[in-house]
Amino acid sequence: MYSDSVLTLNNEVEIPRVQMGTWLINNDNVKKVVQRAISVGYRGFDTAKDYGNELGVGKGIWNADVERSDIFLTTKIPTAVKDYNGTVKAIDDALDRFSLDYIDLLLIHSPQPWIEVNRVEDRHFEGNLENWRAMEEAVKAGKVRAIGVSNFLIEDVNNILENGTIKPAVNQIGVNIGNTPEELIKYCQSKDIIIEAYSPLAHGRLFDNETLKKYAKKYQVSVAQLMLRYDCQLGCVVLPKTDILDEMKENRQLDFEISDEDMKKLKQLKF
Ligand SMILES: NC(=O)c1ccc[n+]([C@@H]2O[C@H](COP(=O)([O-])OP(=O)(O)OC[C@H]3O[C@@H](n4cnc5c(N)ncnc54)[C@H](OP(=O)(O)O)[C@@H]3O)[C@@H](O)[C@H]2O)c1
Repeated sequence: MYSDSVLTLNNEVEIPRVQMGTWLINNDNVKKVVQRAISVGYRGFDTAKDYGNELGVGKGIWNADVERSDIFLTTKIPTAVKDYNGTVKAIDDALDRFSLDYIDLLLIHSPQPWIEVNRVEDRHFEGNLENWRAMEEAVKAGKVRAIGVSNFLIEDVNNILENGTIKPAVNQIGVNIGNTPEELIKYCQSKDIIIEAYSPLAHGRLFDNETLKKYAKKYQVSVAQLMLRYDCQLGCVVLPKTDILDEMKENRQLDFEISDEDMKKLKQLKF
C-alpha cells in the first residue's frame, strides 16, 4: 500500500513516507501509542527532547514485536542548545533516554531558541554550525544515520549548505492544505533535501472546513486523508499525530490520487 512506501534521503538512507508524530502525547502514554501504531503498520516516529516523551518512545520501540532496524526514529536537538559541547551532550543524553544505540534522523529543531521565534532577528548562523559540527561527528561515530534541520528558512539552509560538510537530509516544516510554503519546498527539493511536513492535519483545525469537505467527498476519503495525500503528492514525508487506533489506520489509507488540476487549486488555498 502507498503508506508503506519509502523515500530515499540524499545519503541513500530510506525513510518511511508516512510516520507518526508524537508531540503532545505524554511520556506515560506514548509507549502504548507507539506499540499500537507499530501494530497497524507505522514504522517511523517523530519525537524531540522538547516533547518530553523520548523515554516512552524508546520503551515503545524496544518492547515492540519488530526489529529495531525496521523502525525509523527521529529526534531533535533542543532549541536552547546552540553550542558544540551542549550538542554533543544532547545527542548522548537522547541515546540514553531511548536506551538505543543509534538515532535514524537527528534534526536541529529550530534555527532560533523558541523564546526568540518571531521576536528576534538573530538567526544564530554560528550556533547552528556548532550544532551541525557535533551532529556530523555523531554520524561518523555511528550514533546517527542521517542529519537534518527543522523550521529552517532558505537563508538558514544556505548557511549549512555553504559551511557544513554533510548536506542536510531533510527540512521539517509546517505544510498543510491552506499553508503551502511553495518557494521553500521547491528550494529544498532542488538541493536534494526532503521536506517533512509537520502538522499535516493543521493540528486538527480544518476538519469542518466546507471546501475541504467538498474535495474529500469527490475522492470518497476523509478530510484527514485528503490533507495527507496532498502533502505526499508535494513530495513530502508526513507526520500525522493521533493516539486513536481507528484514526491511525485511517491516516494510512492513502491509496488514491488527487488530480493535477485539483492539486493546483488546493495549493492556492490559504487558511
Ligand atoms: N518540528 C517542529 O517544530 C514541529 C512542530 C509541530 C509538529 N511537529 C511534528 O508533527 C507532528 C504532527 O503535527 P501536530 O501534532 O501539530 O498535528 P497534526 O498531525 O496536524 O494534527 C493532530 C490533530 O489531528 C487529530 N487527528 C489525527 N488524525 C485524525 C483523523 N484521522 N481524524 C480526525 N482527527 C484526527 C488529532 O486528534 P487526536 O489526538 O484526538 O487523535 C490531533 O488533534 C507532531 O506530533 C510532531 O511530531 C513538529
